[in-house]
Amino acid sequence: MEKKRYAQIGLGGRAWLFYEALTGEFASSTELVALSDRNPGRLAVAMNRVNARGAHPRGYIEADFETLIRETRPDILIVTTKDVYHAEYICRAMELGCDVVTEKPMTTDAAKCQRIIDTQRRTGRTLRVTFNYRYAPFRTQIKDLLMRGAIGEVLSVDFHWLLDIQHGADYFRRWHRNKRNSGGLLVHKATHHFDLMNWWLSTIPKTVFARGQRRFYTPETAERFGLYQRAERCLNCPEAGPCKFYLNMEIGEFKQLYLDNEGLDGYYRDRCVFSDAIDIEDSLQVIVTYQNGAQMSYSLNAFMPWEGYIIAFNGTRGRLEHHLVEQSYINADGTLPGQKKALSTTLIPHFGAPIEVTPWAAEGGHGGGDKHLIEDLFSPNPEPDPYLRAADQRAGAYSILTGIAANRAIQSGQPVVIDSLCHEIGMPDFTAMPGPDMPLAWRYRFDPDPDKD
Ligand SMILES: NC(=O)c1ccc[n+]([C@@H]2O[C@H](COP(=O)([O-])OP(=O)(O)OC[C@H]3O[C@@H](n4cnc5c(N)ncnc54)[C@H](O)[C@@H]3O)[C@@H](O)[C@H]2O)c1
Repeated sequence: MEKKRYAQIGLGGRAWLFYEALTGEFASSTELVALSDRNPGRLAVAMNRVNARGAHPRGYIEADFETLIRETRPDILIVTTKDVYHAEYICRAMELGCDVVTEKPMTTDAAKCQRIIDTQRRTGRTLRVTFNYRYAPFRTQIKDLLMRGAIGEVLSVDFHWLLDIQHGADYFRRWHRNKRNSGGLLVHKATHHFDLMNWWLSTIPKTVFARGQRRFYTPETAERFGLYQRAERCLNCPEAGPCKFYLNMEIGEFKQLYLDNEGLDGYYRDRCVFSDAIDIEDSLQVIVTYQNGAQMSYSLNAFMPWEGYIIAFNGTRGRLEHHLVEQSYINADGTLPGQKKALSTTLIPHFGAPIEVTPWAAEGGHGGGDKHLIEDLFSPNPEPDPYLRAADQRAGAYSILTGIAANRAIQSGQPVVIDSLCHEIGMPDFTAMPGPDMPLAWRYRFDPDPDKD
């Protein structure tokens, strides 16, 4: 069997998931032929890691991208750079004859999104967007329940995502804190959430209205915490002692990937979360209407005491509630002031008793999503997928256009029509779902787990 040839560009924190799999579990069916980053230090770290695993790709700095493609002839480029550069590499690679796998968000604004759609159509190459959240078993199970008509046709959704003061705060420390790099949290982070909703409901967004503000990660909040002497970064900050948002850069990956290499490109990983230079929101409310007639109210707050989400699908046969607490803030003394980890799915029929559904088991990063995504991505013979979790540029586009439209709505105070942002995207591949023709009954029996003995 001929091995698929892979190159990867962007070698920061997320990159390891991909090059680890290529040089480990999938080394017999794939070959990592090139690695690239704009920072020679991070390139060297990645090269050393894969060399130690017996792989010997060539290393290139960003400026040598065309040379990389010409000399190493990859079949597929994996893009794991910061978000704003995804479109550039996706399009250049497709023009040069490669297929592409890109991390989310596919890109950060409507013009770049259109460029990707047009380039893919012109070149006929394939583009895969790695929506690992779809692959978390308990979220795939939600798709399964909705597909099988557990609550009939979904008419509306309440969806609330909470980012906590550890993970959530991290978006305010580095490049994500500026919309020009990330599109803000409605694009960078909510691309996952809006994609889940498009995929869960098998539909695409039509109109978007939003409000947003930043009122927690501000200089005023720092002063209210008594942090008057703060510096622009954590390293050597006079307020490092009392500040609960202090990040120690001298340990582990923070040192190896970022601190040791910051002199090469000025990428500081520990900028102050209370800085005036931040221009993304930390509190967001969005209303979305969908092509199939459903509507959603969504919120995202990035300064919460616990991380996770609360979601409720409201259907013609009842309601499906799904709740995940991923992480709670842990005090220095080890006590847990917030909620404990929790995962629940409850099916509440209109005229019957609630059913507690046992969530499909998950292990590994991002609710088990990373593991299943990687298997689907690199396995030479992936299993046929009844849930159609593999996403291309069409799903990638609709996942970001909700956030891009929401950003515009926040600026203008007006609702935004998705079709006014990009054209000729095409409908993503989605499964059939219960629609308005699904019969209703006063009593019905639904088995959430028909395969169980
Ligand atoms: N799916 C998920 O759950 C998930 C999780 C984390 C990150 N991500 C995505 O992965 C990507 C990388 O995130 P990260 O956390 O590793 O960020 P990071 O800042 O740690 O790494 C980004 C890397 O890209 C390099 N880079 C920046 N601009 C470049 C350019 N023009 N050319 C070449 N290299 C360039 C940087 O030097 C750095 O090494 C982002 O798009 C992010 O949204 C996805």
